[in-house]
Amino acid sequence: MEEISLTINGANISCRSGISILDAATENGIRIPTLCHHPHLEPVGACRLCMVEDEKSGRLWASCVRLVSQGMVIRTDSPTIKKHRTNIIRLMMANHPESCIVCNQGNRCELRQIAAELGVGSTGLYPMPHYTRLEEANPFIVRDLSKCILCGKCIRADHELVVVGAIDYNLRGFKSRPATVHDLPLENSNCTFCGTCVSICPTGALVTKNTRYVGSPQKESPTICGFCGVGCSLLMGSVDGQVIEANPSHAHGTVNQSTLCVRGHFAHDFLNSPQRLTKPLIRKNGEFSPGTWEEALDVVADRLTAVKEQEGPQSIGFLGSSKCTNEENYLFQKIARTILGTNNVDNSSYLAGRPTLKPLHERLGQGGQVTPLSALEQAEMIFVIGANPAQALPVVGYYLKRASRRKGVPMLVADPRRTELVPFSTLWLPLAPQSDSQLINAVAAILYKREAYDARFISRFTEGFDRYREGLASFDLERASHVTGLKLDVLEKTADLLQGKGVSFVVGQGVLQQRYGIQTMNALLNLTLMTGSLGGVGKGIHILAMENNQVGAWDMGAVPDFLPGRQLISDDGNRKHWEQTWGVKISPDPGLNLVRMIEEAEKGNLKALYVMGENPLRGLPEPERVRRALENLEFLVVQDILLQETVQLADVVLPGAAFSEKGGSFTNLEGRIQAFEPVVSPPGEAKPDWEILDLLARKMAYPEPYASVQRIREEIRGQVPMYADLVNNTNQGWIRERSRLRLFHPQGDGEPIRFTPVVLKDDEAKDKNYPFMGILGSTRFHLGSGSRTGESDRIRDFGLRGEAEISTKDASELNLKQGDEVKISSPYGSITREVVLKKDLRPGLIFIPRAFHNNSVMQLIGLTQLGLEDSPGWKQVGVRMEKA
Ligand code: SF4
Ligand code: SF4
Ligand code: SF4
Ligand code: FES
Repeated sequence: MEEISLTINGANISCRSGISILDAATENGIRIPTLCHHPHLEPVGACRLCMVEDEKSGRLWASCVRLVSQGMVIRTDSPTIKKHRTNIIRLMMANHPESCIVCNQGNRCELRQIAAELGVGSTGLYPMPHYTRLEEANPFIVRDLSKCILCGKCIRADHELVVVGAIDYNLRGFKSRPATVHDLPLENSNCTFCGTCVSICPTGALVTKNTRYVGSPQKESPTICGFCGVGCSLLMGSVDGQVIEANPSHAHGTVNQSTLCVRGHFAHDFLNSPQRLTKPLIRKNGEFSPGTWEEALDVVADRLTAVKEQEGPQSIGFLGSSKCTNEENYLFQKIARTILGTNNVDNSSYLAGRPTLKPLHERLGQGGQVTPLSALEQAEMIFVIGANPAQALPVVGYYLKRASRRKGVPMLVADPRRTELVPFSTLWLPLAPQSDSQLINAVAAILYKREAYDARFISRFTEGFDRYREGLASFDLERASHVTGLKLDVLEKTADLLQGKGVSFVVGQGVLQQRYGIQTMNALLNLTLMTGSLGGVGKGIHILAMENNQVGAWDMGAVPDFLPGRQLISDDGNRKHWEQTWGVKISPDPGLNLVRMIEEAEKGNLKALYVMGENPLRGLPEPERVRRALENLEFLVVQDILLQETVQLADVVLPGAAFSEKGGSFTNLEGRIQAFEPVVSPPGEAKPDWEILDLLARKMAYPEPYASVQRIREEIRGQVPMYADLVNNTNQGWIRERSRLRLFHPQGDGEPIRFTPVVLKDDEAKDKNYPFMGILGSTRFHLGSGSRTGESDRIRDFGLRGEAEISTKDASELNLKQGDEVKISSPYGSITREVVLKKDLRPGLIFIPRAFHNNSVMQLIGLTQLGLEDSPGWKQVGVRMEKA
């Protein structure tokens, strides 16, 4: 790349060619004021405020759109420039309403800041405000477009970053404003309320709706979003120790850059919910009474010790949390294994499909699931299977839409529903539920028959291809077409699209929670190997972890079968290492997973359970059965932030801190480890979970108190190689195991990756009493069971009803119309929902969103209808439907 030399304000500067004068100046510490520019958006040169003067020609240029050239001599602060900038600001101010004092944007308005810098007080011009109707009916965003300066950032953010297309310019000239189609309110448009336009607007034209505070926060602190597995980087504003707003940090190199989703931007108001736990509670005579920390921890220590002594370590279970930090999960499982002597440790990522991932982990090793999302934009081909990230993990949806729309990456979408990604796809494969493995094997068989596989990759990096190809050679494509419901020519077209390409596979809950998820995962990895789609940028498998620290909880050993660092507990060497580190004996037997713990509690074998940051009563299937099992325990301790369903059953309640109230680190779905510090203090007497665990360990005579999160981190760093770089300060994180698979190291060591034989899924007999297939899924407004998002006033006030989606064909056969109430029943229970009619939905399917109505949809699912290796199978259920 050519090196450019130029002069800015008398200083000689060198920079690379192809960058703007603005970027060259910024990189060299010279500030040029801007209003329409943002480093994550394409420059447009709309506001002209960034004007600079070319001293050679005397011409004025908008520096954000003018590229540097050899020998340029630029002034950014000449009297001419200042005069022009001042006039631009005066005109904007004259057009502005006089409501700055009560503007929600307060001191952060960039227009006001630049006016102050340039000394523009009174404009000296006739005021010409363009008053518009204040739009504040929705609970998320207030639009006061009389404050709009037409910089177009909101429109570009909507089109370029989140690729929604909810807004564009409406009208022309003086009357022009950003608006939805037909200028409808945002809530009647396709706006997703991601708030990206809000945090990028330089004035008070777009602001977060805040009923309690107006103006700027007292403090803004960086942290990481505690909702989903993307791990967005946030800047949280607080007033008087309470979080009042969240914005993207806009920092370079973060996973979300300048975007967020509706949860991360607006649902944090749950942090100030009246349901927050603020004091330890101890059950006495059936009622909760507040206690001191000393009393509560004494009860927990005494009761757990007594159960261990009387009933043995196997009678105690520990449910850790995919929402708590790495440090907390490490300490939690350590207490279970070292003080109580049990491997009965799990976390709710079990629900999100960890059993399905286990074979993938075993075949690929630790590096297999570490794939940066940014690589999607460099892929040759993307194959989205069983995932609806535009709803579940919206920032992943933005990556996929950008890859397709802006980078032209072809995309296959396999999903029974017409998801939001379908319009961006090259081909939509509306396959029958649970037939993913058939689809994948069929495509592999076609590629095999065409001899269109990566023979070099296969011979160099894999083993077992011969046995696998026997299965492909005899694969029955007609049957696969019948099972998937996809015509043979569609299967051939799918193979055409994959042939000769390195593929990025994106795998979501539709596979991970499926009863046949393990077969699908194995088939998918076989196809990945066959197409040589591993070991390079833009190739690999992206696993969409739902919860914010689902990956970290597993890494830290908060699972029954792995020690920290994803070391199999059944391996003698692994156990020996940890036995020496911790100075205790560790049982070689894997512990009970979450579902097996519930079963053992039902039978009376599990006597005590310690739940940290989870709500199994709301998150698990058959909630009444789970309730009975928990009531059957002799002792239940729940450490949580909200007075939720499981807390109500506890013998002792320990009030914990939310993600914004403690320090720690989370590991996102890319394997990016991000450390963070507290934004505010926990409410009342609540404490960070690591501190509670540390105090408890001391009560139970654990010899080495930690007393700080840094001490726990030090131990992790020293003992868990994949976390060796975990540092103490807040940072943008790094991808653990950057090197990915050892096999692809330049030295090429590491075990070859195994092909597994083709497995054919048995035909499942359909129960004619339950002729419909109910599919459970997420919406962007709630995460998981909705324990936290359900406490957000904003989400509640939006008035969503969680309707079930049915096909127009089924609706007409059942004589149902939009808005009718139906009773949906399975062998396990019944719920009622209003219906919405979808013409693109496959007849025979009903989509029911999770989290609504206290997540009552889980009543339809069988808790212990587990598939192979206890894969949950909680994604689909046979149901019947009748008008309520
Ligand atoms: S609403 Fe804000 S971001 Fe959008 S054009 Fe107006 S000033 Fe710019
Ligand atoms: S909130 Fe998000 S989807 Fe809605 S207009 Fe703004 S950027 Fe677009
Ligand atoms: S919920 Fe997920 S996608 Fe949304 S802001 Fe938080 S981390 Fe990002
Ligand atoms: S910042 Fe360059 S024209 Fe607006």
